[in-house]
Amino acid sequence: MTYEQNARAQAGRLIESGHARILAVESSCDETAIAIVDDGRVERANAIASQIDTHQLYGGVVPEIASRMHVEALDPLLDEALRQADCTMDQVDAVAVTYGPGLVGALLTGVSWAKAFAYACGKPLIAVNHIEGHVSANYVAHPDLTPPFVCLVASGGHSHIVSVEHYGSYTLLGGTTDDAAGEAFDKVARVLDIPYPGGPLLDRLADEGDEHAYHFPTPHTEGAYDFSFSGLKTAVINQAHHLRQSGQEIVARDWAASFRRCVVDILVDKTLLAARDTGADKVAIAGGVAANSLLRSELIRRGEKAGLGVYVPPKRLCTDNAVMIAAAGYYRLMAGEVAELTLNALPALSMFG
Ligand code: KG4
Ligand code: ZN
Repeated sequence: MTYEQNARAQAGRLIESGHARILAVESSCDETAIAIVDDGRVERANAIASQIDTHQLYGGVVPEIASRMHVEALDPLLDEALRQADCTMDQVDAVAVTYGPGLVGALLTGVSWAKAFAYACGKPLIAVNHIEGHVSANYVAHPDLTPPFVCLVASGGHSHIVSVEHYGSYTLLGGTTDDAAGEAFDKVARVLDIPYPGGPLLDRLADEGDEHAYHFPTPHTEGAYDFSFSGLKTAVINQAHHLRQSGQEIVARDWAASFRRCVVDILVDKTLLAARDTGADKVAIAGGVAANSLLRSELIRRGEKAGLGVYVPPKRLCTDNAVMIAAAGYYRLMAGEVAELTLNALPALSMFG
């Protein structure tokens, strides 16, 4: 039997049983991660190696360095994940891997590693979209959550409002017309001399600030559920330069608090509007920006007030990890989607058709 025939036969048995222990690999940007998850819902291992300290020296992710560091991190992370899950490679049923979107070289390291693992162990390979992974973090965090629901996905490279109709079936309701929300946080943080990635540190600084101290413009968008953060970011940066040139001090914590309030209000307004207009009774958030403390508390407060079920994953499952890739991979596998060993990295992969 060839590898392909064997993998298909095994996938068929897993689908019939409804059970699968999935080992997943994530390497799309600056985190290398390997996780083990049972049945798309039960986290057994979550091993992560962050490269942030290295990229911080350059003020952003250096793709070539990211790829090299992924290669070095993958094997030790496998040992760590198997140790955490207290299992052997034989006890893993299938291997899932992020194949896009992301940095091409970074993605390729994970894809090549996962293909080698699948082939060597004779296990089915599952190709996972990184953004679908972010959405699926909610399945691990909330065992009771099932589609349909509306999900805000806000990360360093993407900002979408997605209608999740079924597992693996999505409609894009709105998205950014320019910068992603995380990108706006990171760029505005730079003006305050906050090191990369600015989002989490700006969030912490904002906790001590007065959010009414500064006023920033609310960007206009054509689509009711679309975002535009580029204009806001430029306005905020220009205002900072202007104040400094006229000799005025910027109070960083107040600046951070006012900016965070502005972005969070936009994200929450549009997500709740999309939920209301589509008749959804559940909303969820996902992606690195979903770790923002004000976004989390505001979505819960306002969403519950509107009578919605609100689903917010723990922060460690919002930023990049492989648990979310395993969760998405489980539902892909159960839908009969097994990847070939010719799988390639697709840096601009979309989740919408
Ligand atoms: O999902 P993620 O880990 O990687 C991508 O797929 O992009 O998201 C990273 C982004 C960065 O822009 C980072 O600054 C932002 O998420 N982020 C935050 C917070 N934690 C991470 N932004 C605002 N507040 C936070 N607490
Ligand atoms: Zn991500």
